Amino acid sequence: MLAQAFLSALLLVGSGAHAHKGCGGQEVMRRNPGGRNIDSYAEYASELKRGREGRLDRRQATPTDEASGAESTDPSFECTGYSYAPWAALKANYPTIWETATILSTDTDAQTLFATINSSVAAKFPNIGPKGTNSGDFTGVTYDYGTDPDCWWTDHECTTPAADTGLAADITTVPEALTWGYGFDDGPNCSHNAFYDFLQDNGQKATMFYIGSNVADWPLQALRGYADGHQIAVHTWSHRYMTSFTNEEVFAELYYTRKLIKDILGVTPKYWRPPYGDVDNRVRFIAAALNLTNVVWTDDSEDWKEGVPADNVTAADVTANYQAVIDKAGNGTYTSSGPVVLTHELTNFTMSEAISQYAAIKAAFKYMVPIATAYNDTNPYEETNVTYPDFLTYTNQSSSSSSSSSSSSSASAGSAGLTASSGGSSAAASGSAAATTTSGASASTTSKAASSAGRIEAGVLGVAVGLGGAVAMLL
Ligand SMILES: *[C@@H]1O[C@H](CO)[C@@H](O)[C@H](O)[C@H]1NC(C)=O
Ligand SMILES: *[C@@H]1O[C@H](CO)[C@@H](O)[C@H](O)[C@H]1NC(C)=O
Ligand SMILES: *[C@@H]1O[C@H](CO)[C@@H](O)[C@H](O)[C@H]1NC(C)=O
Ligand SMILES: *[C@@H]1O[C@H](CO)[C@@H](O)[C@H](O)[C@H]1NC(C)=O
Ligand SMILES: *[C@@H]1O[C@H](CO)[C@@H](O)[C@H](O)[C@H]1NC(C)=O
Ligand SMILES: *[C@@H]1O[C@H](CO)[C@@H](O)[C@H](O)[C@H]1NC(C)=O
Ligand SMILES: *[C@@H]1O[C@H](CO)[C@@H](O)[C@H](O)[C@H]1NC(C)=O
Ligand SMILES: *[C@@H]1O[C@H](CO)[C@@H](O)[C@H](O)[C@H]1NC(C)=O
Ligand SMILES: *[C@@H]1O[C@H](CO)[C@@H](O)[C@H](O)[C@H]1NC(C)=O
Repeated sequence: MLAQAFLSALLLVGSGAHAHKGCGGQEVMRRNPGGRNIDSYAEYASELKRGREGRLDRRQATPTDEASGAESTDPSFECTGYSYAPWAALKANYPTIWETATILSTDTDAQTLFATINSSVAAKFPNIGPKGTNSGDFTGVTYDYGTDPDCWWTDHECTTPAADTGLAADITTVPEALTWGYGFDDGPNCSHNAFYDFLQDNGQKATMFYIGSNVADWPLQALRGYADGHQIAVHTWSHRYMTSFTNEEVFAELYYTRKLIKDILGVTPKYWRPPYGDVDNRVRFIAAALNLTNVVWTDDSEDWKEGVPADNVTAADVTANYQAVIDKAGNGTYTSSGPVVLTHELTNFTMSEAISQYAAIKAAFKYMVPIATAYNDTNPYEETNVTYPDFLTYTNQSSSSSSSSSSSSSASAGSAGLTASSGGSSAAASGSAAATTTSGASASTTSKAASSAGRIEAGVLGVAVGLGGAVAMLL
């Protein structure tokens, strides 16, 4: 088993850029906005609405409705590029999509903020520099893999930086019994409407870790995620290995994704997930300086490897990975905390699999909730006038006023996501169903997972050659 893992690891490194094909954006074709112009989310939302109505009642639908009904979940239609005016107007203020982000020479705000952060990094972590290549080849990296001084996740899945770093532990679990911390990486996927329709029909929200370049490519799809009430979080600008980057690149990958989500959706996320889990104390420090809490996972569904020849992961393997987590719900593993499972909005398979596993997860677990909800963080965005449901509210166990506004938002979710209009000068769906605006909502501090239950069982397979020679790691 280990020998086989080692062999595959070598193959992975040998195949370089192909090592992680499938998870994320590098392989996605760069798109030049073209096609039709869409100037507001309202226009897109009414298209979706017509589509759903067309599908829901075909007998009464006019031929036009039927056509748009089909179109709204036809991948080739959904993934046809379009020009969205608010993004077109902002584009010059952003790095090139799908390339490693750096700070724009004209961006004095970013330069000023970075200068402060950079001097703190140098003072605090003088010995941590970039590691390996941005596609995750750590061959030849000189590192003490045994003691793991940088708390580098990719070495031994370290998630608890030493106390003297002052860094918070990563979130790995959710602090509620029999509760599945529900989230998806790599969106917004251009063809996610069938999946998002499913979540909406089930009144289900999740934490969506969006790639900045995907938000730029598919701003209306990102707006739908927010309007549907999902917790929007950051998954970097170009989806590469974060520990490989200079301080400036780490900063820019996070800074511009956060800023783009603000510019397009109107909110600034306070949570992020490193692609491939690749984070160390230097990266954690820069993220924390941008108020971003790091969320990794306990279990990897490996859905992102399905269909990637080098990874040799079948649909049945992914189903078995889901099942293994579901089985643990029955054996006492989750009596005081719940799993966070790595799953993706990446391909038709990953989304279809999420749909087909949903009923089984619901049956085995008491709750499935977004990460912020599990931690009672009612402010998962910088904007304090936008609040998010806490655990009792989301699970309908509380009859507080915030509960009733939440359930009305969730009750109307079937249409709210479709009728949110673009308000004011902001491109965001104003007053969208994503958030309930309550006065005096207490912003509880995000408590970090202390539990070590349910550690990573499978993950990225990589190899690193340290001073002592080749070291195989099953991550
Ligand atoms: C940031 O800090 C690093 C390490 O101390 C240094 O090499 C780099 O020049 C600094 N970058 C800027 C833009 O000041
Ligand atoms: C981080 O949060 C603090 C406290 O709310 C705020 O003052 C600061 O501006 C935030 N920093 C960034 C980079 O958004
Ligand atoms: C792929 O996985 C199958 C089943 O686990 C195994 O039998 C086969 O040897 C693997 N192929 C490669 C190329 O690793
Ligand atoms: C539950 O099952 C998992 C997977 O087989 C195992 O690792 C774990 O130790 C079991 N936990 C308990 C409490 O039995
Ligand atoms: C979205 O999913 C489709 C399959 O439905 C896939 O072909 C496409 O590459 C994905 N797009 C993005 C941007 O991830
Ligand atoms: C997967 O693709 C099929 C065929 O295009 C489509 O009908 C279905 O809605 C897709 N599923 C998801 C979850 O995108
Ligand atoms: C969330 O709030 C509920 C109700 O007050 C409480 O039982 C639970 O412990 C809280 N969770 C966290 C992580 O603070
Ligand atoms: C809470 O109640 C709303 C409205 O009845 C429903 O749509 C939603 O699914 C419920 N949520 C949970 C977690 O049961
Ligand atoms: C929150 O405040 C900002 C800035 O004042 C404003 O632009 C935005 O519309 C407000 N959002 C909500 C949901 O009230």
